Amino acid sequence: MREYYAARAPIYDEVYLRPERQADLAELRQRIAVWFAGRGVLEVACGTGWWTQFIAPAAAQMTAFDALAEPLAFARLRPGVERVAFVQADAYDLPESLGRFDAAFAGLWLSHVPLERSSEFFAGLHARLDPGARVVLIDNTEAQCELLPIVERDANGNSYQLRTLPDGTTHRVLKNFPPEAALRSMIGGVGANAQYWRGDHFWAFCYDAASR
Ligand SMILES: C[S@@+](CC[C@H](N)C(=O)[O-])C[C@H]1O[C@@H](n2cnc3c(N)ncnc32)[C@H](O)[C@@H]1O
Repeated sequence: MREYYAARAPIYDEVYLRPERQADLAELRQRIAVWFAGRGVLEVACGTGWWTQFIAPAAAQMTAFDALAEPLAFARLRPGVERVAFVQADAYDLPESLGRFDAAFAGLWLSHVPLERSSEFFAGLHARLDPGARVVLIDNTEAQCELLPIVERDANGNSYQLRTLPDGTTHRVLKNFPPEAALRSMIGGVGANAQYWRGDHFWAFCYDAASR
């Protein structure tokens, strides 16, 4: 996955330019301004910073991390991100030095978390959050499979797509499409007040991190 996203960084934003996705994206941009107003936000796997540029103006302060230097280099060039601290970090091994936050965001990330690692991911994320922190996850609906069909499922229930880059290389990428019930189950015990929104191409899941 890392090799794939490093190579894809220069063309990554194409996913946000597709005409049929614009109505959902406009709705989510409006919601983002409300969700993160005045918050200290930790953004998970920020990639090229497409969401960062909309969250940063609303947030009081913001740290955005990704595992890879290549997409981070594009993220730093976004308008409106001058106050954002960009950090190279692993979502499964977050250092305490990141600090603590009263909000977190992950765009198009949970779909790449193997189902058997979701508890590990949420535990690491919540360790960096204040009790009651707002967490927002946004990801693709199954409509994305019309472009990239599922070609394989593993014993843990994870699904995989084959994706070809402009250089002709093909990559097997884990991409899950958790339904609302699965999202609620994933945060059972660590989240409360969950709300789910679903458009044609994206869903959003917002909840409050439970007190630890
Ligand atoms: C589908 S992209 C999403 C990028 C961005 N959040 C967005 O919505 O446009 C997935 C991102 O996860 C990053 N990534 C992959 N493994 C990671 C890990 N273990 N920790 C942090 N980021 C990771 C990739 O570098 C890539 O930028």
